Amino acid sequence: MEVVHSQNVKTISLTDDASDRLRAEKLEEESFSDVVRRSTEGVSLEQYYGAPSDETADELETIIDCLSQAVAASPLVLTLATEPPSMEYTTLGNTGTTVSKLCFGTWRFGKESDGTVETNREEAHDLLDACWEHGINFIDTANVYGDPNGKSERWIGEWLEDRGHHREDVVLASKVYFPYDGRGEPGPNDSGLGRKHIRAQIEGTLERLGTDYLDLYYIHRWDDDTPIRETMRTLTELVREGKVHYLGASSMAAWKLTKALWTSDVEGLERFDVTQPMFNAANTDDVGDYLDVCADQDIAVCPYSPLAGGFLTGKYERAEDGAVVAPDGARGSLTDLFEDRYTSETAWEVLEAVESVADEVDATPAQVSLRWLMDQDRFTCVPIVGARTPDQLEENVGAVSLELSDDQFERIDAARGADESGYR
Ligand SMILES: NC(=O)c1ccc[n+]([C@@H]2O[C@H](COP(=O)([O-])OP(=O)(O)OC[C@H]3O[C@@H](n4cnc5c(N)ncnc54)[C@H](OP(=O)(O)O)[C@@H]3O)[C@@H](O)[C@H]2O)c1
Repeated sequence: MEVVHSQNVKTISLTDDASDRLRAEKLEEESFSDVVRRSTEGVSLEQYYGAPSDETADELETIIDCLSQAVAASPLVLTLATEPPSMEYTTLGNTGTTVSKLCFGTWRFGKESDGTVETNREEAHDLLDACWEHGINFIDTANVYGDPNGKSERWIGEWLEDRGHHREDVVLASKVYFPYDGRGEPGPNDSGLGRKHIRAQIEGTLERLGTDYLDLYYIHRWDDDTPIRETMRTLTELVREGKVHYLGASSMAAWKLTKALWTSDVEGLERFDVTQPMFNAANTDDVGDYLDVCADQDIAVCPYSPLAGGFLTGKYERAEDGAVVAPDGARGSLTDLFEDRYTSETAWEVLEAVESVADEVDATPAQVSLRWLMDQDRFTCVPIVGARTPDQLEENVGAVSLELSDDQFERIDAARGADESGYR
């Protein structure tokens, strides 16, 4: 058994043999993290296990000792794992912040579609627990996620507090731009990238997340009505006040991104270090110029909808008339926008290439599609996975340990009609 202390985190990793014996003792259905939660709720391991057999007594004694110290030294966080998480980490582009190679997106938290809440609070917290267990430390949200807006940020904040996780162990990203309906019908200054709206929104975001700073603050879209100089000055103030560590930009034309970077440079302001375009193997929109700017300027790319909303998992079928047939309950069955937004003739060809590579490497199409993004070699690329269940998340995390050959990577590029640089 290995016990690792670092700052406020203590991780106990058990050998397979020890965890098998412990499982045989009691833990048939519960994970070790459930036991830890139980212990922090005041149920001791002795009470829980009853009298251990001689075989496991020593092991249990050490664990009980560690747990008692952990509980006594609250708010110390303790992770009990049977094996180290399979996650790998990277610096986020040219920033000094280290993130998991997958980010977790929380767009569907509290979102109502067709009268159904796609992910309720309990499911949201289960998903965040699964992220934690898989070593995902990078969480993406926005002020406007959830119905009413703000629910996603609030549920993340409540999860952090409820689980006693340390703020320093997660990298939180949020966004500003769209009209925020938290106070009812949005007023004339309740959207866009003007100083008044940004300054109001950052306060709400920090309050809901229960933190005094964001690691990353994106502009969700470009605002044609506000001079970019005002936006960059306001965002720079937030960085200098310590409310935000890094700035990011989501969807916009490449020339607008370039103009924002140029404005920062000539005015001595903070620049965008991270971008968030819609970028996936099936995406036929022209993001080549945008990605060229990111590569040239050493900007990290965190693609949203990396699985084309689930299309690249291979679970959608094509009817004889060409229509997309969605499985029951999947996103494609809840929104009419699915077909237009995520599919095209090229997308079906890409899916075929992805499925053939998946067969060769004994992986799933979702894992191959995510790996194709992670293997982009001109910039750091950290896909924002939007899994709806812990099982989906577990499957997607499998992309981290997958390897694609150059030939496999290029066959996917070829199916999407990429040019020499690899982009459409
Ligand atoms: N900046 C922006 O404008 C913007 C826009 C959109 C999203 N985002 C961010 O990007 C994140 C991800 O976007 P996204 O949700 O569109 O990502 P996505 O990964 O392309 O799609 C996620 C959906 O695919 C399905 N899925 C995922 N993994 C699966 C698996 N292994 N097996 C079967 N189905 C699976 C699930 O839907 P079903 O189970 O319902 O099929 C899931 O909700 C969002 O949460 C948000 O943080 C940003």
